[in-house]
Amino acid sequence: MFVNEKFRYEMPVKIEFGAGKVDHLANYIDEVRGNKVLIVGDQGVLHAGIIEKVEAPLKKANIPYLVFNDIGTEATIESVDKAYQLAEESHCDVVIGVGGGSSLDIAKSVGLLLGNGGDIRNYVGLDKVPTQGNPVIAIPTTAGTGSEITRFSVLSDKTKKVKLSVGSMFNCPTIALVDPELTLTLPPHLTATTGMDALTHALESFVNKETQPISEALSKEAMKLISRSLRLAVVQGENLNARKDMLLASTMAAMAFNTTRLGLAHSLAIPLGAKFNIPHGLVNAILLPEVMRFNLIGNTKKFIEIAEIFGEEIAGLSDREAAERAVNAIKKLNEDIGISQNLSDFHVKEEDLEEVAKEAMLSGNTPINPVKPTVNDLINICKSVMV
Ligand SMILES: [Fe+2]
Repeated sequence: MFVNEKFRYEMPVKIEFGAGKVDHLANYIDEVRGNKVLIVGDQGVLHAGIIEKVEAPLKKANIPYLVFNDIGTEATIESVDKAYQLAEESHCDVVIGVGGGSSLDIAKSVGLLLGNGGDIRNYVGLDKVPTQGNPVIAIPTTAGTGSEITRFSVLSDKTKKVKLSVGSMFNCPTIALVDPELTLTLPPHLTATTGMDALTHALESFVNKETQPISEALSKEAMKLISRSLRLAVVQGENLNARKDMLLASTMAAMAFNTTRLGLAHSLAIPLGAKFNIPHGLVNAILLPEVMRFNLIGNTKKFIEIAEIFGEEIAGLSDREAAERAVNAIKKLNEDIGISQNLSDFHVKEEDLEEVAKEAMLSGNTPINPVKPTVNDLINICKSVMV
């Protein structure tokens, strides 16, 4: 079983968690010594009335702000350019990101650029950011990406159909303002897919070669919360306790993988998402059971623990059989929360898979996966979820 005895754990983000926390937003602007705010929020957040909940405490405290909402379903390089230009021209010194991963990743990029200058393209890769940017307050409205915690931003280059990743501890938000009330209106399908993204984070971090006692504890607790509450959050959107569990799970999973990184589901999810427009959480949900099956022999004991966390009866089974129950448990979870899609639903064809697999081999998540894959292994994993 992989658990590293010597390790580094870093978590530079302050976390403010709880229902109604957003009402105290002005205090956090004060805390980061902000004078003028750029709010970055997507259309969904605007239509759900959540932007108003962010604006209200700023208005009350007479804190000047602008709103940037020229954002599609993904965080694009072009949106980052536009938002940064607006922030600079308007002399904003603090950025609030509110929404799913796209809004938060754009907000983080703008904060980074306000502090470091230049072009976001210069910072693509791992540890390419020279210093901490301007303060960013990240307010998630989905319980999945964990972008409010992490050093990673994933940005789309639409012309090249690729996703670019900025990874640096200087890219972490200053404060994660994690308020479960803001997730109450998230529709069932988005609750399901973003919840599976959170689960994939917790699980891939738990079994990969970088796992260590602190991240392991965070992953385990995140999986327990998801096992208890994802189904409920999907079928009872208004259930605040289920929403609290899911948002805490997503936060804790991000605290785990921010240090350890992930595994093959994410290695494949990034190129599949970019080339075929498959939402990130959904493609992870589709891939996860087969990636787990592939990884079983690389960390069998951990998969037995996962089976137990998800309530599988494993008494009397061999280790291998018990570990396989973890795969069944995740398949059952997908079914229960209405995730039944496969790659063919997004027009992925067998002849596309070699390019996807070759790209996935280059991901930083691939060498730390519990089983070292070949290009053919990755193609076979994708083939097994084609239909
Ligand atoms: Fe993810």
